[in-house]
Amino acid sequence: MFFGTKAFAGSFMPIQGSTFAASVDSLYKFLVYASLISCALVIGGMIFFAIKYRRKTNDDKTAYITHNSTLEFIWSFVPFVIFMIVFGWSWYVYLQIRVVPKGAFEINVVGQKWNWDFIYKSGRKSSGEMYAPAGEPIKLILSSRDVIHSFYIPAFRNKQDAVPGMYTQMWFNAPKPGSYQVFCTEYCGEGHSSMLAKIHVLPKDKFEEWLRNDPYKGMNLVQVGLKLFDSRCTACHSVSEENKVGPGFKGLFGKKRDFADGTSLLADENYIRESMMMPAKKVVKGFSNVMTSFQGQLSEQEVLGVIEYIKSLQ
Ligand code: CUA
Repeated sequence: MFFGTKAFAGSFMPIQGSTFAASVDSLYKFLVYASLISCALVIGGMIFFAIKYRRKTNDDKTAYITHNSTLEFIWSFVPFVIFMIVFGWSWYVYLQIRVVPKGAFEINVVGQKWNWDFIYKSGRKSSGEMYAPAGEPIKLILSSRDVIHSFYIPAFRNKQDAVPGMYTQMWFNAPKPGSYQVFCTEYCGEGHSSMLAKIHVLPKDKFEEWLRNDPYKGMNLVQVGLKLFDSRCTACHSVSEENKVGPGFKGLFGKKRDFADGTSLLADENYIRESMMMPAKKVVKGFSNVMTSFQGQLSEQEVLGVIEYIKSLQ
């Protein structure tokens, strides 16, 4: 009961979405209660002794005590045992989290300012929304296109840095289908707080079906652009005139754009394409040069889709 993790999860922890979430919670619960009890003993004892042994008369003298071996042994040994329990227990839980089971289903996760891309071995890609089969080990291979990001799924009790120039990995097994929130937990610039994603855990057959689907089946270019925009651009750009990290897109096409270097240009298809592929080339006046290039990450259909979508925002 004391370590009954269900109630604990419901009280102030996120839902337990992975197989190791309950063991993380048990350990955490032990640490919280052990700290509370120690705190009560130390502060309570201090108050009790301060009252009991306070000076009552002016000639009250403190007894001359040099040491007490038994007491000193107990107050050293008991905490030592507790710390070793915490160490052993943490080590056990840590190994559960860190050691990726053999034969896990692999998904590549790529972070960039400020969104997450997911690339599957079948060639299927998604942005902002990751899909995974329920009830089997999933290995995530993380990397970054620009700065250090961190992929954190509170419900899975797991996180891992995504580092430019190297691959890192993490794993989970989510028994229950559902949607789980992902946060970036490494400060990565203006759009850090909106660098979110969702993991959709699906029953195996639904997942396989998703994997086979053409994400843009039956869509016209504007719809393709809208879909892409919603997953990859919204952290920094709005479709109204409102400016976020980057300029809002409403009415952009065909308008005169003023740039930080003093030049200006009428926004056409070439300008939009260049801004996606070489964003540093023409930085709109009043904004910082913070966008990461989308070079090599979009299909021609997706590039045209975004251009057509922006053109439609009049
Ligand atoms: Cu990416 Cu913070």
